[in-house]
Amino acid sequence: MTTSQRKILVTSALPYANGSIHIGHMLEYIQTDIWVRFQKMRGINCIYVCADDAHGTPIMLRAQAEGITPEALVARIKNEHEKDFADFAIGFDNFHTTHSAENQHLAETIYQKLQNNGHISARVITQLYDPVEGMFLPDRFVKGTCPKCKSDDQYGDNCEVCGATYSPTELINPKSAVSGATPIEKDSEHFFFKLPDFAEMLKNWTRAGHLQTEIANKLSEWFEVGLQEWDISRDNPYFGFEIPGAPGKYFYVWLDAPMGYFASFKNLCEKRTDLDFDEYLKSDSKTELYHFIGKDIIRFHALFWPAVLAGSGLRTPTAVYAHGFLTINGQKMSKSRGTFINARHYLNHLNPEYLRYYFAAKLSSRIDDIDLNLEDFILRVNSDLVGKVVNIASRCAGFISKQFEGELATQCTEQALYSSFVNAGDAIAELYEQREFNHAMREIMALADKANQYIDDNKPWVLAKQDGQHQAVQDVCSVGINLFKVLITYLKPVLPVMANNVEAFLNIDTISWSNYRAPLLGHRINPFKPLMTRVEPEKIDAMLDEVKKNAPGSQQQAKKTDTIANTISYEDFAKLDLRIAKIVDAKTVEGADKLLQLTLDIGGETRNVFAGIKSAYNPEDLIGTLTVMVANLAPRKMRFGISEGMVLVAGPGGKDLWVLQPDPGAQPGMRVK
Ligand code: MSP
Ligand code: ZN
Repeated sequence: MTTSQRKILVTSALPYANGSIHIGHMLEYIQTDIWVRFQKMRGINCIYVCADDAHGTPIMLRAQAEGITPEALVARIKNEHEKDFADFAIGFDNFHTTHSAENQHLAETIYQKLQNNGHISARVITQLYDPVEGMFLPDRFVKGTCPKCKSDDQYGDNCEVCGATYSPTELINPKSAVSGATPIEKDSEHFFFKLPDFAEMLKNWTRAGHLQTEIANKLSEWFEVGLQEWDISRDNPYFGFEIPGAPGKYFYVWLDAPMGYFASFKNLCEKRTDLDFDEYLKSDSKTELYHFIGKDIIRFHALFWPAVLAGSGLRTPTAVYAHGFLTINGQKMSKSRGTFINARHYLNHLNPEYLRYYFAAKLSSRIDDIDLNLEDFILRVNSDLVGKVVNIASRCAGFISKQFEGELATQCTEQALYSSFVNAGDAIAELYEQREFNHAMREIMALADKANQYIDDNKPWVLAKQDGQHQAVQDVCSVGINLFKVLITYLKPVLPVMANNVEAFLNIDTISWSNYRAPLLGHRINPFKPLMTRVEPEKIDAMLDEVKKNAPGSQQQAKKTDTIANTISYEDFAKLDLRIAKIVDAKTVEGADKLLQLTLDIGGETRNVFAGIKSAYNPEDLIGTLTVMVANLAPRKMRFGISEGMVLVAGPGGKDLWVLQPDPGAQPGMRVK
């Protein structure tokens, strides 16, 4: 077969080095890992690399807030990430960082080539600048009043109330989220990658089978709007690589991040003698390059990255495979709902292979979102893995060890059945290859049902009690064990740890896709030990409790955007009339996707307040709780009615928002001092 000559380099998106890995991320790493393990089992030379994405403003500010250097922060997070990945059995061949010598070298050389080839332009642009911090402010770090609907507290790029998009310089009364200061407008020279140079190349490339159809269609819309030059420089202070020949200018994080794929590979090539870095990068490379990513970062991988590669004379990706987002119980992962489950929260309570299997049972080649329903998770894992697969072995192994000293029969008495299992392998392999894991799992479970049916029909526990059936017991149980072995082969990309335990139990070499066909005959196996226990609902509850307990820890994340603002006088503070308020009603507002309408009781008086907290709260959960409101804020007319005050909320936004809740002893109307 020619497949053994294939050389494949596979990547997953590089996680940002400013936060923990959560199970949404894990969807991607598990998807990629299953595909890679499958390729390796097929004997293909497949290398899987990843790295932490270490650069950018949020990482710089988080390090500042923690009082450490960005290098120290990035090193600490990398350790944490690597442990999480290892414990989920993600088998990277290498895990590196974008803040590395290899990546700096790559970024500089690729940039140099782009420049020599005329794909870089320079011009002066005007941006908001924080005069206190002495830094330009990325859009997400400016907040102010929406120029369109006049809602307060909106980000610099779009309004969460009316949906308008604008540039941060258009915000009314803008404030820096870093220092609280009023930003000024300041000019500076930026470098741009001339993406329009690649319009024709990209139109062809995106239609040449490198992308899922859904994505190619989406990109067509962007081509119609027209491609813009891409701003790839940032000014000091910035945590990143300084641009050669441009002191005080740095590569924008998204320029060097995808290069980090190659940097990690380069780092691996330096450790191994069998890999030739240039063979994988040269424009006429025969090797294959696959990027697994989430749907939120498609344009970086399907437009900018192929263009940058082509523009610098390097190979382009063989394919970019995007997946959808993980939801939990049908909703976005949310700190306030207690569903923001970190990899470590999960690992502290549950077997990682449950989740690997559950994701496999849901993943396809499409980019639909994927839901982790915790009830369904328990049922699915218990029924399929424990109830069907492991059950086959546990029903047969006892007889083999007790009555036959671990010895399997010398012949396979069910050749047709056994062959049907072995022959299903090609179709299952094709499903893995096409990333139709859910379909593959269905096929495998259908086989597991057949194996159990065979055992039910032949009842070794009955035969064992009958005279003259000694041989039949060994035959039936040996068939069962051999069917089990075939199933474990098919499941090995998904359940590598269990497969290793099965190899030990069956006393066999590493199972691969090329050595699984022959049944084990006259072979001695080891005593059976439980391979997987049932998911216990209490463990899920314990995990969710831990998630809830750690929710305040996310305030650390809030720190990354909010440092203490400028001081105010006591007089200024005294002007605020803060009151304990009871939320007597809360409802969603038709046509507003960020707002909840609250009815607040402040001791005999009720107020109508619109609060931008819908992303973090179900209205029902708020009714009856106490909070704190600014009671003397001038009423403000909004699109949906008049807002008569504000409630106090902490956190950077989105799902990370917490309404302040006083001790329940406080009474509505009490003044807060
Ligand atoms: N650092 C960039 C990627 C640079 S690649 C050159 C980044 N990092 S991330 O940490 O935000 O996300 C890493 C990957 O996890 C992305 O592919 C992203 O789509 C994926 N996911 C993050 N949250 C997710 C879910 N809730 N569900 C599924 N995938 C998720 O983006
Ligand atoms: Zn607005």
